[in-house]
Amino acid sequence: MNRTVRVDLSDRSYDISIGHDLEIGTAGAIPKNCRAMIISDSNVEPLHGDWCRKKLDESGIESDTHVIPAGEESKSLNTMAELYDRAVDLHLDRSSLVVALGGGVVGDLAGFLAATYLRGIRLVQVPTSLLAMVDSSVGGKTGVNLARGKNLVGSFYQPVEVVVELSTLKTLPEREYISGLAEVVKYGVIRDKALFESLEGCASELLSRNMELLVDIVARCCEIKAEVVGDDERESGTRAILNFGHTLGHAIENVLGYGEWLHGEAVAAGMAYATKLSERVRGLNSDESARIISLVSGLGLPADWHGPGGDLAWQALRNAMATDKKAMGRIPRFVLADTIGEVTFGCEIPEDVLCEAYGMD
Ligand SMILES: NC(=O)c1ccc[n+]([C@@H]2O[C@H](COP(=O)([O-])OP(=O)(O)OC[C@H]3O[C@@H](n4cnc5c(N)ncnc54)[C@H](O)[C@@H]3O)[C@@H](O)[C@H]2O)c1
Repeated sequence: MNRTVRVDLSDRSYDISIGHDLEIGTAGAIPKNCRAMIISDSNVEPLHGDWCRKKLDESGIESDTHVIPAGEESKSLNTMAELYDRAVDLHLDRSSLVVALGGGVVGDLAGFLAATYLRGIRLVQVPTSLLAMVDSSVGGKTGVNLARGKNLVGSFYQPVEVVVELSTLKTLPEREYISGLAEVVKYGVIRDKALFESLEGCASELLSRNMELLVDIVARCCEIKAEVVGDDERESGTRAILNFGHTLGHAIENVLGYGEWLHGEAVAAGMAYATKLSERVRGLNSDESARIISLVSGLGLPADWHGPGGDLAWQALRNAMATDKKAMGRIPRFVLADTIGEVTFGCEIPEDVLCEAYGMD
């Protein structure tokens, strides 16, 4: 059965529809007979572009499509310049829509275009990767990378509608799908023990992409993200819990070079590390710690990373953690688990514990 999750943000509230054969462009905030610019990438457009155009057409919305090369390299100011030019060529005006059809790269770019073109036009997110469905399409973070770092330019800008058509997941490559599962595990650890336990009980069905199961799991992840964002839209406090596993995860991506490991893979190793830290400094019990690490591994995700060079790899990671956007005065901050379903953010860890939990004592 299809599900709807409300993101409650006063006049910026919107619905996330999750399921099959969903409509696109029907939210009340969307003007009748408006025009849309669909932004998609070179992998997703050939697979799902016709479906998206047909759905918009059925809602009385004419559309043009702009395709960017697939991959993180496209999340750049150069691509943004192309998108602005195309928006002008298409005479998009304040009644027009930007539709993001793709993974997080397309969603972040399209979101930033919608946030800034004519000082803001309406945005519809149609996420097609698991990561985009449970994470990047919800909550309003948009932006691009600079040569000096990821996501350094951007804005908070909420969509008017998010359409999670689960059948698009059938074409998502296996490695991308498994990587997206890392964020699903994250929601269980940070907010929902029952979700975590259901993941433990249905790992094989999850891996075989059982669509009935996915409706409930994706909806629960979106509910949790909606609750967290509803409490702290601009990340001045509790929204930081969404970064469980990301302190070491970002450092691994940074040290390896972006793209070597997928984001979810790095976050998985980061969650396992945060779990070990939690056992040492937050009193997470050893049984729960083992269960988190075992779920990560059981889903085919890496539970650690020890790059070549031992001590050198650790020093590189340690430096990368010190320069993370969320570090304060070069001291990295962690989201740690007190128990499965409850976490604390902003934790600073003694240096010897950081080393020992990584296996560097
Ligand atoms: N805005 C946020 O809150 C937020 C949160 C997390 C991550 N992000 C950003 O999201 C990006 C990562 O997102 P991603 O993992 O979706 O990467 P992505 O957009 O690069 O998509 C991953 C790959 O899967 C392909 N793909 C996507 N859907 C497909 C489908 N249904 N069928 C076949 N192929 C498909 C894409 O073409 C791409 O090759 C990063 O740039 C990250 O910074 C943003």
